Parts: sequence; structure tokens; C-alpha cells
Amino acid sequence: MAIRGVICNLLLGAATASAKWIVPGARWRDTEGKLVNAHAGCVTVDQGTGRFFLFGEYKVQGQVEGGGISVYSSDDLATWEHHGMALSPIEGHPYISPSHIIQRPKVVYSKGTEKYHMWWHADNSTYGWLLQGLAEADNITGPYSFIDATSPLGNWSQDFGLFQDYKDGKAYALYSNGDRKEGRDVYLTSYNDDITALDKVVHRFDKYDLEAPTIIQTETSYFALMSHKTGYRPNNVVAFRADSLSGPWSQPFIVAPLNTRTFNSQSGFSLRINGTSQTTYLYLGDQWDSNSLWESRYIWLPVTIDEEKKSLEVQWHDIYDLDVKTGEWSPIEGTEYPATAAKTSGSAYAQEATFSSSGVILTGIYGNDSTVTFSGVEGSGKPQWVSFYYQNTDDMGFGDQPGGSPDRIGGSWQLRRIASVVVNGDTQNVESLYQRDTHKGIILSTPLKLNLTEGSGNEITIGGLWNGFDVKGGDIEKIVVYPPEEDDGDDGEDDNDD
Ligand SMILES: *[C@@H]1O[C@H](CO)[C@@H](O)[C@H](O)[C@H]1NC(C)=O
Ligand SMILES: *[C@@H]1O[C@H](CO)[C@@H](O)[C@H](O)[C@H]1NC(C)=O
Ligand SMILES: *[C@@H]1O[C@H](CO)[C@@H](O)[C@H](O)[C@H]1NC(C)=O
Ligand SMILES: *[C@@H]1O[C@H](CO)[C@@H](O)[C@H](O)[C@H]1NC(C)=O
Ligand SMILES: *[C@@H]1O[C@H](CO)[C@@H](O)[C@H](O)[C@H]1NC(C)=O
Ligand SMILES: *[C@@H]1O[C@H](CO)[C@@H](O)[C@H](O)[C@H]1NC(C)=O
Repeated sequence: MAIRGVICNLLLGAATASAKWIVPGARWRDTEGKLVNAHAGCVTVDQGTGRFFLFGEYKVQGQVEGGGISVYSSDDLATWEHHGMALSPIEGHPYISPSHIIQRPKVVYSKGTEKYHMWWHADNSTYGWLLQGLAEADNITGPYSFIDATSPLGNWSQDFGLFQDYKDGKAYALYSNGDRKEGRDVYLTSYNDDITALDKVVHRFDKYDLEAPTIIQTETSYFALMSHKTGYRPNNVVAFRADSLSGPWSQPFIVAPLNTRTFNSQSGFSLRINGTSQTTYLYLGDQWDSNSLWESRYIWLPVTIDEEKKSLEVQWHDIYDLDVKTGEWSPIEGTEYPATAAKTSGSAYAQEATFSSSGVILTGIYGNDSTVTFSGVEGSGKPQWVSFYYQNTDDMGFGDQPGGSPDRIGGSWQLRRIASVVVNGDTQNVESLYQRDTHKGIILSTPLKLNLTEGSGNEITIGGLWNGFDVKGGDIEKIVVYPPEEDDGDDGEDDNDD
């Protein structure tokens, strides 16, 4: 019964040598094979070399806050070299000890001081201070020395963002001023010329109660993106538009397809790539995993801006090929294998589903005896990406907690299931596939890099793995198998959870 799926197998075409694939939501590994560990941070472009530096919160099991800020560099936004800690926590320090909050770092070069300045949300463990920290370094990778932690113009500061206008180089801080009733605003405040202190409030996004702000600047517009406040649960990110930073700003509007919760991510940073052929804008979001924060992933996606319609949209692609020199990018095409092509075992079965591209979805996946198997899968003999399109209707109901949008009364928050993926019966190498909650009928995808043998004899079997709650896998809508990346020297290994 191994029916080969609908074939839309297009080869990559003429990718330039410097083009690189970005795979949102995958386990990103650095040049040493370790998980890229820099969350809710920023990408700063080095003025001299044009190299990209990624700064972010360093999280490990047992130390998910106060771990300091780590830094990576890259020439292509896909290959990341780790340079260790840019800002290390200091035991006993009044503001940056391991028991403090050191969140959302942003790094900017100050022409005045000829140093790199790192700003972040500095706080105590119960978020009682709401300050902004400043550290400085001569070298972009640091180490950064702590200067001070202050309250912005006498106010509070929670989620922190920094924006630099490319036209005049002026820098601005963006910060939500906390959850209490007197707060719930987002401030846009200019820095002095040296970027050593705040200057004056330029705009206040009044009482929208949003957070995780970032600004995307086009030639004629500013788009301020922010998320709602649902903790580590993703929600619908919104954008405001304006001709000038002081406003008037538009009504907020949702930037990604409804009910995808911005593809299960939160805003926080964005990047403008001024390429030789086109300018490309990237949304740099975080996919938090509050069950294991240190495994949180990155959702980096291109955005489409229509200046006439005054709109901005974040678009999903399983994989896209980005050339940071020209600014050009294109989605990679793969071969689809629909749910109707799979065999089921045990209590797994194909159920009618109007929202599935083949009319059915594979459900009842549980442990290792209620599985689904795609046979006749064409492989290359090299590690290649496979995207698993799924639905996980556990929903993010959390009826006993304030805020958010409970989809069921008294629901408990699951956040994600974990499926097992076995290639060609190799149960020694079980891959773990994280499947975040979705709304009902909303299909999202999540990728794994797999070793398929050359030819059409491959079998991919999906079961359920223990995720701390259950051994249930999400419902499978289809899989898409992508060609291998040229010159892929990496080993394609992924975490094995059993
Ligand atoms: C954090 O700071 C606030 C305000 O000073 C204080 O009330 C709270 O007790 C502090 N939390 C801790 C854990 O020290
Ligand atoms: C800055 O850091 C980089 C990476 O760690 C290093 O290669 C370089 O030599 C450093 N530059 C200076 C001026 O210290
Ligand atoms: C501090 O924030 C509150 C609430 O947004 C606001 O009423 C007040 O004017 C702010 N103060 C300054 C100096 O910006
Ligand atoms: C964009 O890049 C071009 C070169 O490709 C350069 O001439 C121009 O000044 C850049 N513009 C901005 C605003 O960075
Ligand atoms: C899967 O199979 C292994 C033995 O091969 C067994 O130890 C394990 O408990 C099974 N897991 C589930 C969830 O059924
Ligand atoms: C996948 O293939 C690479 C070689 O391309 C190899 O190093 C790696 O061990 C393989 N992984 C598994 C799980 O077989």
C-alpha cells in the first residue's frame, strides 16, 4: 500500500554560492554542533566587516534566567560561530548575579564613545525593579563591563527593545512599562547621541498592554511590532504603522494568519537587509518552550510590506534560501507525501478532515505501537530536511490562570507533544519531533534533518514519545521532503530522546 505522494519535486535552481538556508523552528546548531543558545536578543551588524553578531539570553537546564548573554557571529545568518559569553553573570553582583533577570539584550555601536553598548531589561527575580542595564565593550564580542542599571526617565521598563534609524543613526529604546494598572504602555524614547542615556519620550503606545517590541523601518514607514502579554505562550503579534516615529501611529493589526499565534512565536527583534538587488526585512521571533526553556527555538521569517495598503505580513516558509549580499531570498521546494499515502498501525487511523490538503488527517498516534508510516520516500543519501505538517489540539487552555485565551474550561497547559520519528526501522536512532499546540484545524509544520538512503526505498514511521504528560503524538497532515543543501558538511544528527 506504499503509495508515493503527490509529487511537486522542484530542484533548487540556481542558488548563488553565498546563499544559505534558514529553517525556522529547527534545532539550530553552531559550528561546533551545539544548540544555538542566544534567546530574545538581537542581531547587530558590525560596521567594518558587515558580519552579523547574534546576542541573546543564555539558558541551560537549572539556570533559565540570570545565565548572562552569549554571542555568536555569522556571515550568512545561517552558520553561527560561538564566541562564548558577552556578559557573564557575577556572583554577588547587585544587578547581574545569576539570581537576577538579564533579559532581551540589544547591542549598538556608539560613534561618540567608540564602544559597543549593550542595553537590557535588568531586574530582580520577582520583576520588582523594572530597570534598564548598560554595559560596554571595545570589541563587539565583549566581554562587556557593567556600567549601571537605571530606571528610564524615572519610569518602569520590562520587555526591552532598541531601534536605530538607518537614515540618521539615531537610537531609540522601546520598553513596556510592566503589568500593573498604572503601566501597560509601550514607550518609544530617544537616546542621547552617545547612546549612554535616554533623552526624551517620542511616543507612548498607551494602554494597549503589549510587549516584546521591535521596529521595522522601510523607506517611507515605521512598523512597530509587539506581542500580547501571555507569558511564554505565543499569541497574535500586532503591528502599528506610522510615517514618523512620533506618530500618528495606526491602529494595531495582526501580522500572521489568524490562529497560528504568529506561527507559535513572539516578536522581539527584526532585521533590515539592504542588499545589492533588494531590501529584505526579517521578523526574528522566539519560539519559547516553557517546559524546557533552554530548548526554545527561533522563528526567523521574511516579511512582506505593501506601502500602498500600509500593511505588513509575516510569511511562513519551511525553508528559505537567503543571500545576505543581494538581499534575495526564495522558498525551497520539496516533495509532498500526503496523509492518504501513509499506513497506520494499532489505534492510529486516517480521519476525515476538511482542513487537510488530502481530506484526511492521521490521528490516534500513541507510543510505538500506534504509528503511521510513509513508505516509498525518495531520499538523497545525504542529510536532508523533512517537515512534518501536524495539528495538536491540546490547545493552550489555562483556565486557572489570568490572561490569555483559554480554549477549554479548567484546561491545563500542555504547550507541546513530542512525536518519535524512526527512519527505515532504525530504532537505535529515534528522533524527537516537537509539535506545539495549535488551534483546531490549524496546520503548522516542524522540521527534522533526517538521513534517508538514496532512492525511493525509505520508510518514515511516526509514533508518540513521552513529553512529561503523555506519549501521544500530534495528528499528521503530510510530510514534505526537501533536497539536501549543497555543500552540507554537517552531520544531520538531532537529539535522541530515548
Ligand atoms: C524585588 O524588588 C522589589 C522592589 O524593590 C521588592 O519588593 C522585592 O522583594 C524584590 N524581590 C526579591 C526577590 O528580592
Ligand atoms: C574581538 O573578538 C574577536 C572574536 O573573539 C577576536 O577574533 C578579535 O581578535 C577581537 N578583537 C580585538 C580588537 O580584541
Ligand atoms: C511614567 O509612566 C506613566 C504611565 O505610563 C506616565 O503616566 C508618566 O507620565 C511617565 N513618566 C514619565 C516621566 O515619562
Ligand atoms: C544600501 O546599500 C547600498 C549598496 O548596495 C548603499 O549604496 C546604500 O548607501 C545603502 N543604503 C542604506 C540606507 O544603508
Ligand atoms: C517502546 O518500545 C520500547 C521497547 O522497544 C519500550 O521499552 C517502550 O516502553 C515503548 N514505549 C511506548 C511509549 O510504548
Ligand atoms: C547521518 O549521516 C551522517 C553522515 O552524513 C552521519 O554522520 C550521522 O551519524 C548519521 N545519523 C544517523 C542518525 O544515522
